[in-house]
Amino acid sequence: MKKKIVFLTGAGMSVESGFKTFRGNDGLWENYPVEQVASHEGWLADPTLVTNFYNMMRRKLWDAKPNRGHQLIAELEKDYDVAVLTQNVDDLHERAGSSHVIHLHGELSKVCSSRDPYDPRYIQQLTPENSDVEPGTKAGDGSLLRPFIIFFGESVPMLNPAAAEAAKADIFVVIGTSLNVYPAAGLVGYARRGTPIYLIDPNPVSITHYPNLHLISKGASEGMEELVKELEIRS
Ligand code: OAD
Repeated sequence: MKKKIVFLTGAGMSVESGFKTFRGNDGLWENYPVEQVASHEGWLADPTLVTNFYNMMRRKLWDAKPNRGHQLIAELEKDYDVAVLTQNVDDLHERAGSSHVIHLHGELSKVCSSRDPYDPRYIQQLTPENSDVEPGTKAGDGSLLRPFIIFFGESVPMLNPAAAEAAKADIFVVIGTSLNVYPAAGLVGYARRGTPIYLIDPNPVSITHYPNLHLISKGASEGMEELVKELEIRS
């Protein structure tokens, strides 16, 4: 049976694909205050601004490409049972070929009902040809169509399936997240005792000390190259 590797990824995973992190830019996400574009209050205060912000982000996403780090994670599926738990709303893991991706904070390429974002009847997949949402457009239930993004303060319905994956990990790898945002950051704690934990990040990250913690102080692509070598040595 293949060993299971679980990845927990954050904004740093997509930096080399041209996206910015959340906490490295004076609290600005792509030049907007995070609270304005990623909170329920921000949405209620100005749905037009929020709709246009995600239209812009979506256009950026169609032009972006997975980086070497995304590709190496996907390639590990040849030898491992791989699950990716991502806080990212881009689809770069999927486009790199990863087949088992759980999005904790929603998906940029989708829109949904603002009454019940997880009502599957009203989740729509957008495409490069049909990408922009006209502000004021309604979902099938009559509420405003909103980006399929988990805003701050909202529950994270994908947490339980993600925690179940984390608990099955033989190897757990954290890449490009400052581990500031809960409950996603708490997923490391679901790994079984003794599971090797690798942390790939070019900057220091505050993480509980685990006896089997290995730090790889590099960006996502270089760090993944190093991890793959390490796994080859250990197998
Ligand atoms: P942060 O911006 O908090 O952290 C990004 C991490 O990426 C930092 O630790 C950086 O050092 C690291 N980093 C920078 N460049 C890197 C590179 N080239 N390779 C690897 N790592 C690199 O982003 P997240 O932890 O993902 O939520 O933020 C978590 C959540 O907060 C996001 O999902 C978002 C945000 O508010 C929502 O939108 C709901």
